[in-house]
Amino acid sequence: MSLFRLDASIRTEGSVSRALADIVEDSWCEHSDDATVTRRHIGLDPVPATAWAAAVGADRSRRASMSDEERVAVDLATTLVDELVAADAFLFAVPLYNFGVSQHFKAWVDLAITDPRLASGGPQPLRGRRAVLVVVRGGAYGPGTPREGWDHASGWIRRILEDVWGLDLRVVETEFTLVGVNPALDQFAEMAARMREAADRLAQDHGRHLVGAAAD
Ligand SMILES: Cc1cc2nc3c(=O)[nH]c(=O)nc-3n(C[C@H](O)[C@H](O)[C@H](O)COP(=O)(O)O)c2cc1C
Repeated sequence: MSLFRLDASIRTEGSVSRALADIVEDSWCEHSDDATVTRRHIGLDPVPATAWAAAVGADRSRRASMSDEERVAVDLATTLVDELVAADAFLFAVPLYNFGVSQHFKAWVDLAITDPRLASGGPQPLRGRRAVLVVVRGGAYGPGTPREGWDHASGWIRRILEDVWGLDLRVVETEFTLVGVNPALDQFAEMAARMREAADRLAQDHGRHLVGAAAD
């Protein structure tokens, strides 16, 4: 079985999204035969920000008339989508940055969607395949918190993965990852620890959910 894993954190040391994704991956690996993983570290090796406009503007029916920039962008989009179509299961680890979607994740999605296979209203080659989304936030956004409604990333990511691409998605979330980093959040240490323990357990369970994707 093959797993496609994408990491959007801009750091490796101390990354909570990577740590949770590692638990999902290890759990998946433990329960899979012939496990292979294809990785995209878009936080460290981003898709070029100019590729999307070049791919959107290219006339795919006339490759010979494309500019070099358009051809490179279209080929990169094809590679990204080939990686997805070849996978049995998916793992996406995406932090919240500036109350919105990581620019690297948005650039990667936008480019993939220029390929007609993954366009909105397209053939949905990934429909029904199993996926796990790991979302981490430095602060807290639950009901009644001062920043309830300020997470403008998670909803959009779910729309793309579940509705546009049709994945069978489970989500692992944790908040308050800045507790221990930002002294103003020290009072929430216990709550943060509880959230993290629950997320670790859920990550373990969701790794098992990914197994069986090939049978769908
Ligand atoms: C540039 C930057 C912007 C951030 N913006 C937010 C934010 O708007 N809201 C929030 O809750 N956390 C924010 N964070 C905190 C991250 O979501 C948090 O540190 C998370 O754990 C990062 O993921 P990682 O641990 O996998 O690297 C931001 C972090 C960085 C570096």
